[in-house]
Amino acid sequence: LRVPPAATPPMGWNSWNTFGCDIDEAKIRGVADAMVASGMRDAGYRYVVVDDCWYEPDRDATGNLRADRTRFPSGMAALGEHLHAQGLLFGIYASPNVRTCAQRTGAYPGATGSGDREVQDARTFASWGVDYLKYDWCSGGGSTRNVRVAFTAMRDALATTGRPIVYSTNPNSNFPGEPGESEDWCGVAHLARTTEDIQPVWDSGHRNEHPMGVRNIIDVHSGLSDRVRPGCWNDPDMLEVGVHGVNGYAGLTPDEERTHLSMWAMFAAPLIAGNDPRTMSEADRALLTEPELLAVDQEPLGAAAHRVRGGDHQVWVKPLLDGTAIALHNQADTPARITTGPAELGLPAGARLARNLTDGTTGPLTADVPAHGTVLLRIDHLSRRGAHRRP
Ligand code: DGJ
Repeated sequence: LRVPPAATPPMGWNSWNTFGCDIDEAKIRGVADAMVASGMRDAGYRYVVVDDCWYEPDRDATGNLRADRTRFPSGMAALGEHLHAQGLLFGIYASPNVRTCAQRTGAYPGATGSGDREVQDARTFASWGVDYLKYDWCSGGGSTRNVRVAFTAMRDALATTGRPIVYSTNPNSNFPGEPGESEDWCGVAHLARTTEDIQPVWDSGHRNEHPMGVRNIIDVHSGLSDRVRPGCWNDPDMLEVGVHGVNGYAGLTPDEERTHLSMWAMFAAPLIAGNDPRTMSEADRALLTEPELLAVDQEPLGAAAHRVRGGDHQVWVKPLLDGTAIALHNQADTPARITTGPAELGLPAGARLARNLTDGTTGPLTADVPAHGTVLLRIDHLSRRGAHRRP
């Protein structure tokens, strides 16, 4: 019996947010080593995803994609083997149509898109031991129908390989003003991006155009919870925890980083770290591996939170198999005490006590929340758990 891919939101690391196109095999191996040594792997971060710019600008004589021979001299099969030997999983990046995003913007040469070569490329990836494909729209015109046809073609191509490969799509890249983010991709991909690209900033001032801040992405998600279920996750983009000084952004504050991870857990989002695990601070390591936060993300029911109170002092509710998670989320620039109750949460009137996942205390449904901060509460429905009733 095989666990179906993406029964819970995939967790891992991706090269893009910190390194962009500046990647090579030594760096990826170094990150993998750090993920093992730091406890990230054991906390659940298993997919190591090599994003854009890993390939030669052209295909070989038989039309196969190949790794850049200077930066990945050992080749991708060897990298996959190395990752697997460390108990990690291997992810790679491709695009439909003619060009990847970096090729479309001119940041990288060539035209190696997988359009009309889906089966060939899927076989190549499977032969390298790939466990996860990030498939990024990037070029080819902006009709949602085109996107759906192209993403479905790669879904079917991956299926022909017989290898379980998590399929992550991005319908949003590079056609501003076109729909995509509000589409439901269940049945096509295991995860689909919901917004334009994230940057390590709280508020970019944009609703859904590049660049997006953490707060802007949270706002978009207030209407997207219903479609989420095991094997079909909204992807609010990769984590910016511990990403500082990239693309001209200073980065998030510690409270904003906690909000980022907490709200992504409430969304049942994929948790794909975007930092440099080789040099991460102890505070970033601790946040990224905090067991109570990760448990909210990975819990088996696989539902996403919905917002029951908007405005500056928000309340979000996520049903869990054995309880309820609650986010008290402060979008204001000043600290606030946020209080909720069973009626607002849609819970029985007796549900008045919760565990505060930040400080571990049990108490009423209230917390002092810093500016841009979030406190998660968890109510365990003990009556459903026989063990709790035994004397
Ligand atoms: C756009 C995506 O949204 C990013 O995450 C990244 O994959 C880049 N493309 C790569 O060019």
